[in-house]
Amino acid sequence: MSKGLISERALASAAAKSTLLNYLKDGPYAARAGDPEICDFVLGNPHDMPLRAFVNALKTWVEPRDKNWFAYKLSEETAQQAVARGLRDRTGLPFEADDIAMTNGAFGAIATALQAFVDPGEEVIMNLPPWFNYEAMIRLFGATPVMVRVRADDLDLDVDAIGAAISAKTAMVIVNTPNNPTGRMYPAETLDRLAAVLTDASARHGRPILLLSDEPYSRLMFDGLRFISPAEHYPYTAISYSYGKALLTPGERIGWLALSPNIPDRAPLRRLIMTTQVSAGWLFPNATLQHAIEDLEAMSIDIDHLQRKRDRMIGFLREIGYQLHVPEGTFYLLPKCPIEDDLAFAESLASHNVYVLPGTICDIPGYFRISLTANDEMIDRSVEGFRRAFSEARSDVASSAAAS
Ligand SMILES: Cc1ncc(COP(=O)(O)O)c(C=O)c1O
Repeated sequence: MSKGLISERALASAAAKSTLLNYLKDGPYAARAGDPEICDFVLGNPHDMPLRAFVNALKTWVEPRDKNWFAYKLSEETAQQAVARGLRDRTGLPFEADDIAMTNGAFGAIATALQAFVDPGEEVIMNLPPWFNYEAMIRLFGATPVMVRVRADDLDLDVDAIGAAISAKTAMVIVNTPNNPTGRMYPAETLDRLAAVLTDASARHGRPILLLSDEPYSRLMFDGLRFISPAEHYPYTAISYSYGKALLTPGERIGWLALSPNIPDRAPLRRLIMTTQVSAGWLFPNATLQHAIEDLEAMSIDIDHLQRKRDRMIGFLREIGYQLHVPEGTFYLLPKCPIEDDLAFAESLASHNVYVLPGTICDIPGYFRISLTANDEMIDRSVEGFRRAFSEARSDVASSAAAS
């Protein structure tokens, strides 16, 4: 696309999103999304009816209690207090209500953080494989993404490589834990080493580097694991969160950006975040969702059921012959394709009515991502498709080996 009317930043941002959009809008999935015949593992969208408790909370809190109920809302104090209380309980850190900015999901929290803390021309370090929107968002705000791949053997952060990627222009490092798409939660020892590297680099460059810990899946942990936030390890941390994952309601936009209580002198930052949210286009959630927050804080999809779906799929996929690790959190699985070309393999699965996200889209070619938000009936129906695509791929590999 040529520049014409469009800003260079918008063009660079759109280019970063083109693989995903091509797949969703023009690829094999485009024509079949919503078709009841398919087994849809592509995105983290619900395929069961929403939580009744969520619907009841909306009904309760849409009822006005005073004349200001639907007035312009910044971050509502009651919402900030409920979030800070939850964060204190989960992290043991003394989060304060004033450090919480209510946002339109994690998307809004990340956009707010980028605009408040990063200048055009500065660098933001992000890890590969990434959530597929970070690069586009960083570019939209005129900054430069610097990509660092996680370690191939255990998918843990490559702290040495992050250290080597830091320059005098580094304003922010984004870490997503538990990770979409790997399902990995970064362990305390890794976070300690990351903190040491960031502290050292901040001192060297004479400015603190902000760690943006993107944690929308922090309440979707398996096997009773406690989620460990990077905020427990590095003082200059901001956390982005969305209720869209644990409640599986991503169309009702609410989340928050929280400043760690260990960041010194936060008063000017709090004010700056609020004015950034206003100027960037009123990036606050709607009034009803903010009023409902205490109810939303207390609810979750059934994690035991999610874990049963995880275990069932890992079981039959491994039995067929797929190689895949066991995620510690999130609602994703990341199997290896039986052939190198993940786009071709996703097409082959699609020919058997099974739709997945090719790894190329999230920068992990040779793999594919499964979203466990698919319902039980889809999972049952998918077994045969996964089996057939696997044996077709294997017989193709065998016949091309025999031919050569
Ligand atoms: C890692 C990560 N961060 C942020 C988001 C954005 O979440 P939301 O759309 O609920 O704001 C997502 C959604 O898929 C995600 O996976």
